[in-house]
Amino acid sequence: MDHLCGKTIIASGFHTTKRGDIDHFQNALISIGDDGAIASVLRPHDDNYNEQKDSQKAAGKLVTLPEGAYLLPGFIDLHIHAPQYPQLGSALDVPLEVWLQKYTFPLEARYADAAFARKSYRLLVDDLIANGTTTALYFATIHQEATRILADICLEAGQRALIGKVAMDNVDECPDFYRDASPEAALRGTEELIGYIRSHPANAAALVKPVVTPRFIPSCTDATLEGLGALAKSCGCHVQTHCSESDWEHGYVLDRHGITDTESLDRFGLLGRHTVLAHSNLITPRNMDTIRARGSGIAHCPLSNAYFSSAVFPLKAALEKGLHVGLGTDISGGPSASLFDNMRSALFVARLLESGVDPSLPPAKRSAQSGVWIDFRDAFYLATTGGAIALDLPVGHFSPGYQFDAMVIDTAAPGGTIRLWDDLDSGENILQKIIYTASKSNIARVWIGGRDVFRSPSLKSGLK
Ligand code: GUN
Ligand code: FE
Repeated sequence: MDHLCGKTIIASGFHTTKRGDIDHFQNALISIGDDGAIASVLRPHDDNYNEQKDSQKAAGKLVTLPEGAYLLPGFIDLHIHAPQYPQLGSALDVPLEVWLQKYTFPLEARYADAAFARKSYRLLVDDLIANGTTTALYFATIHQEATRILADICLEAGQRALIGKVAMDNVDECPDFYRDASPEAALRGTEELIGYIRSHPANAAALVKPVVTPRFIPSCTDATLEGLGALAKSCGCHVQTHCSESDWEHGYVLDRHGITDTESLDRFGLLGRHTVLAHSNLITPRNMDTIRARGSGIAHCPLSNAYFSSAVFPLKAALEKGLHVGLGTDISGGPSASLFDNMRSALFVARLLESGVDPSLPPAKRSAQSGVWIDFRDAFYLATTGGAIALDLPVGHFSPGYQFDAMVIDTAAPGGTIRLWDDLDSGENILQKIIYTASKSNIARVWIGGRDVFRSPSLKSGLK
């Protein structure tokens, strides 16, 4: 393994620290400390550049990316259901409330079997890393043992992960074969997982973090929501849940609590700086103000929303209000493990929201929205720094003090799908082409916290 801890990489590539600004760095010298954090980033015009380069080379600690290879920050998947991986790309023929009961709860119930969990989770974590996902915010299942196995596997594979034992105890919405036995059981299970992850002997650097995870309001009793709100405060953990995803779900909460998901979660103390709300398609402008005031984040899941939501998330409005937004695959509601696919989906759905979709209407009447589309810079921001800010983690770009979570895009990879033309492509346009056309074959290397976690078997242009 070619770890970069204690070494320096000389690389060209892209990152974004601020929405709209793309930094195309060339031959940057990125030095990584033993703790996996970036110690310094020098550009060719910086004073110490040549000195640092020469001394690292003499010490045998300089790694050089070849021509045609671009360094990108690793992607952050802000919403993913780990146990649903076996049904990726299937079960998409019914609405959310039917999908949960017919396909998803029966599948998740199978994770009572530790051997099944181990096999499925190992495949998922390896596939995600190979897709460039260096941080994932996971929903697991209600099971203690299987969720611990997911944490073990992330630690073994070296993936940065935030993992929640799902809490769901409402007898009216959860089947008898798959629910927490009581609010006490839901809370105890959550506390036990927090203890396991925090005291894990392989987790001294807190690569894996526990997450308080009420599935969504319909699945939980008020006692569980209240208990988890108090627990989130006392343990200081991240919180994740689903929010105003579809008309059915949004309406259910209005009927039961007489207020929106956002208002209800806030009353239970579940909206904080470390909360991530999945979907949030039907949030009102006032809900947005509340989410912003609490500093909570939103996981935009464009691909999943196309199947299970009744609306497109008002992404542009959320970004312009300064909400923290990142991207989620929402496996298996979204049938792709790739953040590239989800960046593209975010771009496409924003275009459709702007243009409207009904060809029988005249163009001027097809959509009531304007100024809502985003560009590739926004999509890249969402998949990297946007997600990192939502999680409040020092990842997502290449700056001193940030963890070196990165991938190499080999534009000349065999079987790859990026076609660059010397006389046409330069600067940001190369990033645009990467975002629109890269496939898994183009991902040559992945590091997390400087640790070498993936190298493509077909890597043509080796590192020097
Ligand atoms: N709401 C509650 N559970 C789920 C789930 O597993 N997927 C999605 N998309 N929405 C949910
Ligand atoms: Fe989800």
